Amino acid sequence: MISVRNVTVDYGRGTKTVRAVEDVSLDIAQGASLALIGPSGCGKTSLLFAMAGLHQAVSGTIEIGGVPVNGPRKEIALILQNAGLLPWKTVLQNANLSLLLNKEYPRKTADTVLEDLGLGGVKSRFPSELSEGMKRRVGVARALSTSPSVMLMDEPLASLDTLTKERIQGLFLELWKQHQFSLVLVTHDIEEAAFLGQRVVVLTECPARIKTVVDNPDMGDLDYRGTEAFMKVVGQLREALEE
Ligand SMILES: Nc1ncnc2c1ncn2[C@@H]1O[C@H](COP(=O)(O)OP(=O)(O)OP(=O)(O)O)[C@@H](O)[C@H]1O
Ligand SMILES: [Mg+2]
Repeated sequence: MISVRNVTVDYGRGTKTVRAVEDVSLDIAQGASLALIGPSGCGKTSLLFAMAGLHQAVSGTIEIGGVPVNGPRKEIALILQNAGLLPWKTVLQNANLSLLLNKEYPRKTADTVLEDLGLGGVKSRFPSELSEGMKRRVGVARALSTSPSVMLMDEPLASLDTLTKERIQGLFLELWKQHQFSLVLVTHDIEEAAFLGQRVVVLTECPARIKTVVDNPDMGDLDYRGTEAFMKVVGQLREALEE
């Protein structure tokens, strides 16, 4: 269980304080998925970084599995918007980076993960030799190589073309079902939120507060996009965002 209780996140101090997140409470059961959607600059990344232990909340508490999050933890993986690949390392070295940096991780090579993600043939290439979609998948491979129980994603598919995006969203769905990690996905994309979030939390303008929560119990199949239930959730989200 991920438990976010009355969390407020600030940057700076005194008169220069910027409040990014205000009084947000969320519960995410182990193995569940939640999408966070909201206007640009509203505080989504700030909330996700607090959950990752990278930024301390000024008030409120965040617990994962009953243990307060006070810093990075090995069971929490974070995928950043640009995948965060090191240009001078190959695909395989990039995918293995988390394992190299932290000897405590279970020793599982990224090889199999790369195969699963369709990157088996490009293991020795450098990031500059990959398409955008491939780079994002290397970022996913790195995150998966540590067998996390919590996967945090910050707009992992932003600025990809529609078909590539939908293909990788399908991949995320399969990975989530297969590996049973809890998924928190930050996105700008209404359809992505409706495809991948069992619950979708709509945030307000900065500072982010919870505006609406939309339940999405019928998600979970690759062909969900074609259904009425999906279109209904998309409509609800659009309305909530435009309000
Ligand atoms: N290091 C920082 N110092 C000061 N203010 C910051 C810092 N990082 C973010 N902010 C401010 O906090 C607010 C929320 O930023 P955040 O990056 O969390 O938004 P976001 O919802 O992720 O935006 P986007 O959709 O553009 O990624 C913004 O007003 C931003 O200017
Ligand atoms: Mg952001």
